[in-house]
Amino acid sequence: MLTLEEIFPPFALRISCGSVELRVLRDLDLPELVELVRGGVRVPDLPMPFLQAWHEQPFEPGSPDGFPTTSLGWWWTQRATFAPDEWRLALVVRRDGVLVGMQDLHAQDFAQTRHVMTGSWLGRAHQGRGTGTLMRQLAVGFAFDELGASQCESGYIVGNHASAAVSRKTGYVDNGRRRIVQLTRQGRVGVDEQRVIVTPATFVRPVGQVTVEGAEVLRRFLAIDREPADS
Ligand SMILES: CC(C)(COP(=O)(O)OP(=O)(O)OC[C@H]1O[C@@H](n2cnc3c(N)ncnc32)[C@H](O)[C@@H]1OP(=O)(O)O)[C@@H](O)C(=O)NCCC(=O)NCCS
Repeated sequence: MLTLEEIFPPFALRISCGSVELRVLRDLDLPELVELVRGGVRVPDLPMPFLQAWHEQPFEPGSPDGFPTTSLGWWWTQRATFAPDEWRLALVVRRDGVLVGMQDLHAQDFAQTRHVMTGSWLGRAHQGRGTGTLMRQLAVGFAFDELGASQCESGYIVGNHASAAVSRKTGYVDNGRRRIVQLTRQGRVGVDEQRVIVTPATFVRPVGQVTVEGAEVLRRFLAIDREPADS
């Protein structure tokens, strides 16, 4: 009988450094993930960080509305729509085995663009300990070293100093501002987003030893020829 990892190769991916490990979200992670969101995500005094306030939905387990049902659809969609021309790696972040947040990688037409976008968050209790910086460094390093990406892009709402600091510490440089719409609990609001971009030339690597498992089967699954990131 095949293993789950052989059936769906993204499950074989494991990126780790010290006590921090990134793996693709499994259904078994959901109870811990839901509990983490319930404990709060937003940093006090900083702007709402996401396009939609999914983390501030009323907590209504077992109901078709509210959290977690509203977020389950999104998490499962990332898996269900995984394909070479557009993929989203929803990576669960564990520190010392405890689920502390999520680090997403998303690409469209990667074979042609070599461009990856990232997004991330940590439960409030796990912020401010360097994990946000390390998980972003691991995701970017994986994209450059294992997938042959030439650019990783991200963005943060102007005023999100924590995310700005993570970007700066990972080697991102500013890439323009744009006006975007956020779906908050108060309705649709316009906010300024700072776009940021990192290339192998500016990337700041994590200090510790990085281990990656499952990259080869993932590349095959996504039809990615690994080329040097700066080729
Ligand atoms: C953004 C986030 C992932 C950062 O993770 P983290 O583990 O808290 O960050 P780190 O501990 O690695 O700290 C990185 C830097 O941010 C700074 N920082 C953290 N919180 C801050 C705050 N509230 N205000 C200003 N700077 C802050 C730290 O001082 C640190 O910089 P330094 O080392 O130069 O002092 C986390 O705060 C989070 O999940 N926020 C809510 C969701 C979010 O904003 N996601 C990003 C969407 S673009």
